[in-house]
Amino acid sequence: MGNYLLISFLLLLCGITTAVTQLFNSYLTLPSSCPAPDPALNYRPIIGIVSHPGDGATGRLSNATNVSYIAASYVKFAEMAGARVIPLIYTEPPQVLNQKLNLVNGIIFTGGWAKDGLYFDVIKGFFQKILEKNNAGEHFPLLAICLGYELLTMIITNDNNILEEFSAASQASTVQFVENVNIEGTVFGRFPPVLLKKMSIDCLVMQNHHFGISPERFQANKDLSSFFRVLTTSTDENNKVYVSTIQAQRYPIAAFQWHPEKNGFEWGSSRIPHSEDAIQVTTHVANYFISEARKSSNKPVAREVLDSLIYNYNLTYGGKAGKGYDEVYLFIPHSSSSSL
Ligand SMILES: *[C@@H]1O[C@H](CO)[C@@H](O)[C@H](O)[C@H]1NC(C)=O
Ligand SMILES: *[C@@H]1O[C@H](CO)[C@@H](O)[C@H](O)[C@H]1NC(C)=O
Ligand SMILES: *[C@@H]1O[C@H](CO)[C@@H](O)[C@H](O)[C@H]1NC(C)=O
Repeated sequence: MGNYLLISFLLLLCGITTAVTQLFNSYLTLPSSCPAPDPALNYRPIIGIVSHPGDGATGRLSNATNVSYIAASYVKFAEMAGARVIPLIYTEPPQVLNQKLNLVNGIIFTGGWAKDGLYFDVIKGFFQKILEKNNAGEHFPLLAICLGYELLTMIITNDNNILEEFSAASQASTVQFVENVNIEGTVFGRFPPVLLKKMSIDCLVMQNHHFGISPERFQANKDLSSFFRVLTTSTDENNKVYVSTIQAQRYPIAAFQWHPEKNGFEWGSSRIPHSEDAIQVTTHVANYFISEARKSSNKPVAREVLDSLIYNYNLTYGGKAGKGYDEVYLFIPHSSSSSL
């Protein structure tokens, strides 16, 4: 009986060993057994993020002349979906910005407040280049957030007074889907239906703006209504309704009055939603955007990419003040190099 048990045990052990060996062998032979990646997709997408004037902390971090910043939340947002980031520092000379544009597979226009001067011109220039690239057959997506969304409406209508005032500073809100809207192929296309439902009931998106456009004004404007489809609206503190998510009809461009990146990565306001559902919203928007960037066929020289990546810059932690952005990248132009 004892022997029988021992033999059974040895056989069992042997079986396990064989299984482990088979598993190990399958690891060794894994490359040949994996299906080939889709040749139509670029699995190393790079995202350009345009820096915004100031230090992002009204002088707490830097008063340097021409300093600009990118909140790290936008960088992490791109990274969480499988991309790397190159900062497009708006104070850089146009030829440098054009070179960097050729290193990326999509662009983010961030939130902020600047609506004129060099910053506005740089955003407008990038927007025109994005349209040109797409018109020429290169799939090249844009995600425009808060200020980025507002600037798009100004640029497309050629009207710097198109925006109206709203009270939605530091406010979490719902989004209401436009009746009978077709979300297929839009940023919401791959959201689980249950999450879409929750977004219209729970306050899962973070608003932080003083301007916006009412649905009536948006639809009445031919430039806007022919370029974009309105997907959602939201309501401000005075129950005034504004357009909150739009998607270009013929371009891979999505724009948000709200902040998809904040839920996952910003802690400076107690109003920012951090529930599991809220994080899902951040994740799904990021996945949508980077999946669009993977369709870009632009494959830049690796060396130039490495030299330009955000990893070449240091993060500054400004969130200890208990307000504003938690981490920012600061870009201070070298004044000496311009006199060469
Ligand atoms: C920037 O200037 C303001 C106002 O003078 C000052 O309070 C602040 O400490 C300065 N910031 C830095 C980083 O020196
Ligand atoms: C930098 O700042 C100076 C002085 O404020 C200004 O004249 C110049 O136009 C700025 N340059 C850029 C690139 O913003
Ligand atoms: C970043 O910080 C490290 C360590 O303090 C320093 O050696 C490096 O020069 C900094 N890089 C930049 C671009 O400021």
